[in-house]
Formats: sequence, structure tokens, C-alpha cells
Amino acid sequence: MKKVTVALIGAGLRGVNYLEYALQHPDELQVVAVAEPKAERRDSFKSRHGLEDEKCFDSWDEFFAVPKLADAVLICTQDKQHFDPTMKALEAGYHVLLEKPMSPDAKECILMGEMASRVNRVFSICHVLRYTHFFSTIKSLLDNGTIGKLMSIDHNENVGYWHQAHSFVRGNWRRKEDSSPMILAKSCHDLDILLWLAGSDCTRVSSFGSLSHFTSDQAPEGAPLRCLDGCPVSDECLYYTPKHYLTDDTNWPTSAISDDLSYNARYKALQEGPYGRCVYHCDNDVVDHQVVNLEFANSVTAAFTMSAFTRDVSRTIKLMGTKGEIHGAMEKNEIEVIDFDSGKAERISLVDMGGHVGHGGGDMGLIKDFLRLVREDGKCQGLTSADRSVQSHFMAFAAEQSRIDGRIIDLTSFTHRFRT
Ligand SMILES: NC(=O)c1ccc[n+]([C@@H]2O[C@H](COP(=O)([O-])OP(=O)(O)OC[C@H]3O[C@@H](n4cnc5c(N)ncnc54)[C@H](O)[C@@H]3O)[C@@H](O)[C@H]2O)c1
Repeated sequence: MKKVTVALIGAGLRGVNYLEYALQHPDELQVVAVAEPKAERRDSFKSRHGLEDEKCFDSWDEFFAVPKLADAVLICTQDKQHFDPTMKALEAGYHVLLEKPMSPDAKECILMGEMASRVNRVFSICHVLRYTHFFSTIKSLLDNGTIGKLMSIDHNENVGYWHQAHSFVRGNWRRKEDSSPMILAKSCHDLDILLWLAGSDCTRVSSFGSLSHFTSDQAPEGAPLRCLDGCPVSDECLYYTPKHYLTDDTNWPTSAISDDLSYNARYKALQEGPYGRCVYHCDNDVVDHQVVNLEFANSVTAAFTMSAFTRDVSRTIKLMGTKGEIHGAMEKNEIEVIDFDSGKAERISLVDMGGHVGHGGGDMGLIKDFLRLVREDGKCQGLTSADRSVQSHFMAFAAEQSRIDGRIIDLTSFTHRFRT
């Protein structure tokens, strides 16, 4: 089997996580270069993968200024920094694995999708859910006609109250202008999975939702701007930062607050950085709950709810067909298939693939498949090719437009506006 070589653009949480695959499977994948402006991150990645000095760069501009160094690049920079390095990588002849969302800018998504169909390179998007055992099992059950013709889907993304606070109130995805609307940043995976399961083009989209809890008018009386500044409700507040970030567990999400995970460095991060702020006194503007209704060309309908107000960080789904139902709870690794005729319910228990941190095994499944496609040198595209991903991104753009304007969006004419 040919060993694939890759370079990483953006050695942050996601990129570093994916490339653990190279350390677990050195016969399949070798990391040969990195571009990362933060010296601490770059050096740590360099030593973990034994990279040569001259193959460690401060930015993607410096990386693309030298002749091609690897078969493929992983682009794991922040949402608004996807378009430029992706176009440069494809022009330079690299195969590309790009983090989602492709871009918060609809026009850039179209341009990337068009580029994908022109170049003879693998160009995949990290829609990791398609590579989970859970959703691929559901997809096979549907394709085999187990519940007859699919009619309706009811899907929930249970964000988790603490996860909302970490990422979408205090963290990197809290402001639409700086990253993306929540429906794109968090739920483009879910819209993509609904498109895949429905098995047909999406035709119409409507949506409601708002930011209504993590706002200053909900702040407890006397709550200071930062939790450590003598908050009078520290005992009862669900979001008091030391409860989350000053425990013995320094895995994610704590690992996101500081590169130095000593107690003192974390304490300082809470005194000075974004994760120490009161959740009711942040500068967040993305929604904390949203519903989306979808209609597909084959008359399947889907209702999707994304909510911060759940204990578990999980996904639950119910698929209704003419001959039966499928109920699934991703984080419990459980799928139940109900047959109307026999009245019987069959339970399928899946192997635990590592929970939500690795997206139920999807992260590593995606990398494995990307390497297969690269070894075939772009002769075929995978489950999450960029040209296919454009449609699910447009479902998210349309949902956001509908939420703001209060109207139903026809997806074909909505997308057409950005193509001209
Ligand atoms: N697929 C998924 O399920 C999933 C989950 C979470 C996040 N994401 C997405 O993954 C992406 C990365 O998220 P993250 O949490 O790893 O972010 P991060 O901020 O930890 O990492 C991004 C890195 O890019 C680096 N960078 C900035 N400018 C650069 C430049 N010019 N050249 C090279 N590197 C540069 C930053 O210094 C940083 O280290 C985001 O788009 C995010 O939305 C995807």
C-alpha cells in the first residue's frame, strides 16, 4: 500500500486530532510539513511528527511559496480562513481535505464547488458524520428498504448547555461576523446528513430561532463581567468557569482555553481570556435554539431542532417509512428498527467508537477514506466531496435567511442568485 504524505495548514485542535492517525498508522500516512503561526503549536506538532525545520512554516502563504511538498493538505484553519488556502492548494496540485464549513460566504462555496469539478484532485469536506458507523448503518437500512419508502425524518442536535457556553457563547463560534451563523458552524453536519438520508435534492427550507437565554437581560443580579471577580451566584450558576476549567480533567473543552494546561496558566486564562467571562455578559450573537423544516424533491420532509438546552451532547433521530420506523441515539450507539407488519422491534447495538469527541468514529473513518481516495490519485470522489457538500451548505444559508426574513426559501432560486 502506497504511503500518503500530507501537510497540515493550521495546527489547532482539529488538525492535530486528525493527524494522530499518522502516528497510529505510520505505514499508511506520513506528515511531512506544517504551516502554523503560533510558535508553541507549531513546535509541539513538529516534535510529535518529527518534522524537518525547513518544512515548518509560519503561514500558508509561506508554505505555498515553495514547490509541492506532499500528496495532500489538510486545511484546518478557522471558518473564514478556508477559501484562500484551498484555492491555492488545488492550483498547486494538492489533494485537499478541508474542514467544515467550506466557507461562511455562499459565493466562496460555489467557487470552491466549481473548482472541485474542474481539477482532477480529491477535494473532500470534513462531514465526519457520513463516516460514522451509526449513520452509515441507518443509510444502509434505508437503502435496503427496511422501512419501505422513507416519508419523514425528525432529527435533534442536542448541543449541551455547557458546550453551547464553551463554543458558542464564550468561544470561537460566538459571533456570526467572526465565524459563521450557528446553523452553519454547528449544524451543517446535520443538514448534510439529512440530505444524504433523504436521498434527494432539497427543495424548500424554513426556519425559526433566536438567542434568548445567553443575554445580559438574563444575568443574575450582581453578576460581574468575569466569574472570578466575586460572583454572588457562583454556587448555583451552571456556567461558573472554575467548575468547568479548573478541575483535574484537562481534556477538551479545557484544552481549548490555554496551550499551557498547568493550573496557574488556566487560572490566568480565566482572569484574562474569553473563557472566564460571565455567559450573560459576553459579546455573543449566535442563536441558542433553532428549528429548520426541509422538503426534498422525492417528497420526504424533515424537521430538525438544534438546542443548547440539553444535558447530553448528542444526536437523536427518528425516520418514518411506509413499512416501519427507525429510532436512533448516536451517543448511546443504539438503533431500533420497528416493523409495522410483524409489530416487532429489532435493536442494533453498535460498538462504541469513542463518543462525541471523535464524532463516533467519524473523524478517523474520514481520514482513512481520504487516504484511499488519494492513493487512487483523484480517480474518484468520496462520500463528502466538495461539489456535493455545496448543497448542504446552501441548506444552512437558506435556513439562516429564512430565520431572519421569516419566509420560506426555494432552494433552487436561492442558490441560483449566488451562481450568477
Ligand atoms: N468537522 C468537525 O466536526 C469540526 C468540529 C469542530 C471544529 N471544526 C472546524 O474546524 C476548523 C478548525 O477548528 P479548531 O478548533 O481546530 O480551530 P483552532 O483555532 O484551534 O485552529 C486553527 C489554527 O489555524 C491557525 N492559523 C491561523 N492563521 C493561519 C495561517 N495563515 N496559516 C496557517 N495556520 C493558520 C491558528 O493559529 C490555529 O492554530 C474550524 O473551521 C471549525 O469550524 C470542525
